[in-house]
Amino acid sequence: MSILCKISNVEGKLNENSFPPGFLFGTATSAHQIEGAWNLNGKGENLWDRFTHTYPERILDGSNGDTACDSYHKYKEDVAIMKEMGIQFYRFSLSWSRILPAGFSYKINPDGIRYYNDLINALLENNIIPMITLFHWDMPQTLQDLGGFSNELIVNWFEEYVKVAFEHFGDRVKLWITFNEPITICMYGYGRDTLAPAYNSSGISDYLCGHNLLKAHASAYHLYKNKYESKQKGKIGITLVSHWFESSSTFQTDLQAAQRKREFVFDWFAKPIFHPNGDYPEIMKKRIAFRSEAEGFTQSRLPQFSREEIEYIKGTYDYLGLNHYTTLMTSDAEEDAISDPSFDKDARVKSYYNPEWPSAASPWLKVVPWGFRKLLNYISNRYKDVPIFITENGFSDHEGLNDQERIDYYEQYLSALLDAIHEDGVNVKGYAAWSLLDNFEWKDGYVHRFGLVHVNFTDPERPRTKKASAQYYTEILRLRRLPK
Ligand code: NOJ
Repeated sequence: MSILCKISNVEGKLNENSFPPGFLFGTATSAHQIEGAWNLNGKGENLWDRFTHTYPERILDGSNGDTACDSYHKYKEDVAIMKEMGIQFYRFSLSWSRILPAGFSYKINPDGIRYYNDLINALLENNIIPMITLFHWDMPQTLQDLGGFSNELIVNWFEEYVKVAFEHFGDRVKLWITFNEPITICMYGYGRDTLAPAYNSSGISDYLCGHNLLKAHASAYHLYKNKYESKQKGKIGITLVSHWFESSSTFQTDLQAAQRKREFVFDWFAKPIFHPNGDYPEIMKKRIAFRSEAEGFTQSRLPQFSREEIEYIKGTYDYLGLNHYTTLMTSDAEEDAISDPSFDKDARVKSYYNPEWPSAASPWLKVVPWGFRKLLNYISNRYKDVPIFITENGFSDHEGLNDQERIDYYEQYLSALLDAIHEDGVNVKGYAAWSLLDNFEWKDGYVHRFGLVHVNFTDPERPRTKKASAQYYTEILRLRRLPK
């Protein structure tokens, strides 16, 4: 347990409604979801530009990120709003193809560098700490054409790109995140067709994507540690996402199934990096393999790390970024459940929502605050007090300013977080609300809105208006506890 946590535990007895001293509050966004200016001033095409322009029918409202919130032009307004709200850190991502239009570093776009320099400087002038996500899903199209994460060369391409980012921004940026939600990229973009590039080869290209992504993460980490850390003195981690999976019964089979699902979702990426032994969870290695016990023969769809690779990847973190939104009930399932869309054929589990849980506009997002506390405890127990930044948590609704349901969500989830910190001693360093702005919610277009701040997407000026939840969040930040 960190010293900070011990102090906060002592104080917690007196005031368990307060956030610990030093705890940071922020908001989060990502480049493709807010910037717009998709082909302006030298930016190259990315995978989501191509996907939304080619298959508008796959996006709920047929929209795209061409203009989005136009934060490319309006970033000063975004920063001013955050300043008014008392935001301490801003998690945003760099658009790889705005900086390197062809994906490779032989051609650096000076306007891209200028844009992020301006944004970073504006944040610092307003005492807001920048936290940069290096990759939030918007792969340059040139690299996607070469296979994206299914090509092992992604390790080199990513290293070239992050080097440019460290060189140009590392003097002022001290908090880095390599990848946002590897499982979402790999499972929904490579394993299924829900997100770009929609490869839809479940159980094969999802594992390949994960394998290459983990190596790319590790190489970016080592580059930072070996070449930049001593001068720039920053920290670097990765953002993983996990729902909480609660067993549907107390039968051993279901308890084991829920645990299996957690390992297939969270530990798939967490264990190789955060566990002292590294490597994939044993249960994944076992379940995904073809085995002939008699012949002593094993082959697997899950690629294998060599001993050197395991060593190279493990321990590559200063902190864990965690995105969390919701919880699912999970039970054991057999092969005959294959027609059930919730069936995970490798983990052999089914997951579903309790119909009594309140729902956000996004059908996958149910309000289950106790699941957040359980997940934090799970991580803290398994990965020995790893420092955690909540890099995303939030609620979607439809367009509107009076967003009481979002306020209720934040109230309940932040209260669960306080319990995890004070009662359970989980080492959480900060919290970013997703999202600062209503924005391009990938396949859900502009229909499902996560912003604390409303954006009018029908007005070319993209005016911003604070919602009731923005006032509520401002009050939390002022008091450093939940308002009564
Ligand atoms: C996860 C992603 O990181 C973010 O881009 C997305 O908008 C939110 N969750 C909400 O779905």
